[in-house]
This record gives sequence, structure tokens and C-alpha cells, in this order.
Amino acid sequence: MKKFSSLFLVVMSLSVITACDDDIDKGKIPDEVELSEEYYTGGKMGTVFVSSSKAYKQAMPAIDQDPALFQQFMRGERLSDKSFVTNEGMGYSGLGPVYIRKSCIACHPSYGGRGQRVETFDTNDSKNSYLLMIYDPSKPGLPLASQYFTGMTQTRAVGPFKAPIDEHGIQLTWHQYVDEHGNKYADGTPYSAGTSYEGTLIYPTVAVSQDAILFKDFDMSKHAASIEATIGIYGTGLLDAISDEDLRAEHQTQQARGYCQGVIGNDIDETGLNPYYPGKHPGRFTYLCTRATLDNGPGANALWNITNVTRPGRTYNYITEEYARVMSEDKDVQATLGQAAKQIFDDLMSKALTPEMTQEDYEAFMVWHRGLAVPAARNLDDETVQKGRALFYNNGCTACHRPSWTTRNNYKPLPAISNQKIYPYTDLLRHDLDMKEPGRAKICRTTPLWGRGLMKVVSGHGDMLHDLRARNYEEAILWHGGEAKQPKENFRKMSKEDRTALIRFLESI
Ligand code: HEC
Ligand code: HEC
Repeated sequence: MKKFSSLFLVVMSLSVITACDDDIDKGKIPDEVELSEEYYTGGKMGTVFVSSSKAYKQAMPAIDQDPALFQQFMRGERLSDKSFVTNEGMGYSGLGPVYIRKSCIACHPSYGGRGQRVETFDTNDSKNSYLLMIYDPSKPGLPLASQYFTGMTQTRAVGPFKAPIDEHGIQLTWHQYVDEHGNKYADGTPYSAGTSYEGTLIYPTVAVSQDAILFKDFDMSKHAASIEATIGIYGTGLLDAISDEDLRAEHQTQQARGYCQGVIGNDIDETGLNPYYPGKHPGRFTYLCTRATLDNGPGANALWNITNVTRPGRTYNYITEEYARVMSEDKDVQATLGQAAKQIFDDLMSKALTPEMTQEDYEAFMVWHRGLAVPAARNLDDETVQKGRALFYNNGCTACHRPSWTTRNNYKPLPAISNQKIYPYTDLLRHDLDMKEPGRAKICRTTPLWGRGLMKVVSGHGDMLHDLRARNYEEAILWHGGEAKQPKENFRKMSKEDRTALIRFLESI
């Protein structure tokens, strides 16, 4: 009876929290309620019990409990949501000479969130979170080693400078795809039955026209372009706190088994860029595991390279030498600046530009970044969810979507999140799902599934996978092939009730 009443209380308290759309609920759950540890997706110190539209923007309890950290968190949040401007001395100045977007929130909506699938590549469209990647099709996993373009391609510029690519020349095309089962489940039901896109699957290709490219000697016909969408920022502090040893051990375990053998990220040398952990670490962030720690990670870098806002330690522009050369020889640029080519080139390539952001602001930004909490799981005691959970564990999903990890012993940047048992549902390794036209992300990191169930509430859509080709959970699973072919087939052969139960479980984590 005691068990029943505590379950009842859990259900009651969680539904009250769900109904309330503000910040007051801050993760306080009544003491008498005993929740299983799986509710604490981000561990006791990294989870908030908020499932409203603000679920991805909360501070972890680890931050909340320390007023000084909380103050930094709020200062950092402002740096992530303000659009940077070009004017000097305006607080958020320093945008340009070239850039990708003006703020984090432009691509990571609702702070930790994720953009939506779009039909047109327009960086003014707040739904569009795509990064454009130009790469060598014979080496899809490698960052573009190009004298022309930066790794993340810039399509915006502050006059008189010009963008390396004119966005109007970027053509996104969505194609129909029919799988070997005619887009039907084993029971004959079409995929996504009951939606306007019933029985269809779609995937994108990207073309960039030669005349949209600033560099006249760059031959686009020898290159390929693809798009990658945002993943999510919440919880990345906890992923950072997993030790390299544990990550390497997971990799070794997978190598020792005959299936789903993930690829570990390359060792990245962080000496000089990471004040807490200098030295080499295996990549674990981004779809291609190109970044190893948060301090030299996609967010710390984005603050500089998405906007080209300089700071102490990053006192140079994110541009190529070729870009500086072409701009310095451009007659319009020379005329507007009233400068000769050499001076323009030297200024653009200077390694000693004045920092546009203070070190204090940067440090506050990192407290925010590291301290974004994971929303707690919901409804885990529900019977259908329990059934779905068993299906997830028994049909091969956990081979890659490893349910839990324990963060390292003394995580120096934020000690309070050490030794936390967390439930991200990822192995942080890369796998080949053999997708049609995967672009650069052919061998892709297993995406963490935590918090995803709230995407509809937070961002108003359920688009998934690295290029957002999946319009719901069903499609995300149905695009699994290659190493994950068997689990996908298991799903395809399930009864409708079982498919629904599995998805209900995914929605609840
Ligand atoms: C142009 C849109 C865009 C902007 C603006 C942007 N990001 Fe991202 N972000 C992405 C994309 C796309 C990915 C996935 C990239 C990939 O794997 O290639 C990503 C990945 C990340 C990740 C990795 C998450 C993970 O699980 O590995 C973090 C963290 C992140 N971004 C933080 C930030 C922060 C902080 C800012 C602001 C300083 C920012 N981003 C600005 C597009 C953007
Ligand atoms: C071989 C490893 C592997 C297995 C097994 C696997 N997945 Fe995945 N999963 C991935 C990878 C890799 C991605 C990211 C693919 C991409 O974005 O292109 C992913 C992405 C997803 C996503 C989309 C997440 C997002 O937010 O974009 C869902 C949902 C998902 N998997 C569910 C499942 C389920 C359910 C199963 C079992 C039926 C399963 N996966 C089995 C590797 C795997």
C-alpha cells in the first residue's frame, strides 16, 4: 500500500509540474516522494523537474545552490541570447567581418533546443539552424581542409566585406525515399499513418551554384555540400564530466563484440585551450565527435567563430588567408575603407586584434553553457511506458543508446556534478547507419535521447536526425540501417501497440 501511495504522489506531483508554465518549480519535489534514479536523467545535481516550454533553459541544482555561480549563469545566458552587433562599445559588439549567425539562440532555439526542418536555406529564418558544410566527397568525415572556406561556412558579412558564399545560391532539395518494404510496417500499416505525410520518407540534398562562390578558382563541381542541424546544449556539461577512461572502455567493450562496433572520436590536443584538462582527449561532441571537451568545444568555439567576436586568447578572425587576400584586392572594399590592399590584408589576418569580449563575460558564458540542466524523465511508472522501456532494452537499441554513465570523480570545472549517475542514452561513439545521402555525417555519433520527448512542448516540432529528415520518432527509428538494421527491423515487425509503447518510452525520457 505504501508503494502504491508513493507512486500516486509521483504521478500527481509530475502532472502538476507539467501544467505549470514558469520557472518557479525549479526541481523541488516533495521529500516524501521517492523517485527511481532514472527520473534524474542528469543526476541529482543536473536535473530539473520542469517540463514546460522552458525545460531546456534551466540552471542545474549544482548552479542554483551557489548564488555566485547563479549570477554568472544569468550573465552567460544573456550572452547566448543577444544578437551581436557591429558597432563598438555597445555591450554585445564585435560582429564580423564575416559571420554565420548573430547569436546562439538563432540556431539553438529556447536556449538548449534544436532548429526545424526548412525548405529554403535562409539564415534570417529563425527556424533554420542548419550549418552548411562544404567537403571533399572522398573524405566525408574530415573537416574541409580548404584554403578557401572555414570549416563552418560563412554566408553573412558586415559591409564592405562580402560573404564567401551568397546564400541565394544554396539550393536545398527534399527527395522522396521508399525503403525495401515500400514504407510499410510488417503488419501492412504505412509509416506515419494518420499524418499528412503518411507512407513517405524524405531526405535532403544540397547544391551550391558556382557563381554564388566568392572565390573564382574554387571548383564546386569537385566538392560536395551538406547540412547539419543543431543537437541541443542542455546536459553537455554532464557529458563533459564523463571521464576519458570510461569513454575508451566503452569503445573497447564494443570492439570486443561482434556487432555495433562504434568508432571513437580522434584524440584532440587541448594544450593551451583547456585550462582544466590540457593534453589529449578523444572527441565526443558534435555529430562527428570533432570536439573533446566543452572548454575547446562547439559552444566555446561558436561564441568566437559563429560571430567572429574576438576575446582574450582568440584575438584573430575566423577566416581563411584566401578570404583575406580576395577582400584586400577587392576594389569596393579598398574604396570604402580608403586603404591599400596590404593594410586590409594585414588587418584581417592580424593575430593581435583587440578583444571584443571580456574574459569575465566569457567565463560567465561557460558557467551558463556547462550548467544547463537536463529535464527530468516523466511518467516512467506508466504501464505503457514500462512496456516501451522493456522493448527499448530488449530490441538492441541500448547497444548504441547506452542508457547510463557515471560522471568522473572530481570534475574540476564544476565539482558539484562529479559522481552523478546520468541517463543520456548515448555511447558517445560514431556508427554507420547507412542512410541515403547522409552528407558529411555518414558515420554519426549516437545522439543523446534525453530531453527529446519535450521537443514538441519546447520548440513546437519533432524533427530529428542530423539533417532533420525525420519528422517524428517513427521516422527517426525507420532511418536506422547499417549497424542498426536489426533493431530497426525488430521495430518494423512490432505490433502497433508495441511500436506505440516504445515511442511513449522515448517521449518520457
Ligand atoms: C549556425 C547555427 C548555429 C549557431 C549560431 C550555434 N550553433 Fe551550436 N551547433 C550547431 C550545429 C549544426 C551543431 C551540430 C554540429 C555538428 O555536429 O556538425 C551544433 C552543436 C553544438 C553543440 C554540441 C552538442 C553536442 O551534443 O555535441 C554545442 C554544445 C553547441 N552547438 C553550442 C552552441 C553555442 C553555445 C552557441 C553560441 C555561442 C552555438 N552553439 C551557436 C549550429 C549552431
Ligand atoms: C548502431 C547504433 C544504433 C542503434 C543500435 C540504434 N541507434 Fe538510434 N541512433 C544512432 C545514431 C548514430 C543516431 C544519429 C543518426 C543521425 O542523426 O544521422 C541515432 C539517432 C536516433 C534517434 C534520433 C535522435 C535525434 O534526436 O535526432 C532516435 C529517436 C533513435 N536513434 C532511437 C533508436 C531506437 C528506438 C533504437 C532501437 C530500435 C535505436 N535508436 C538503435 C545509433 C543507433
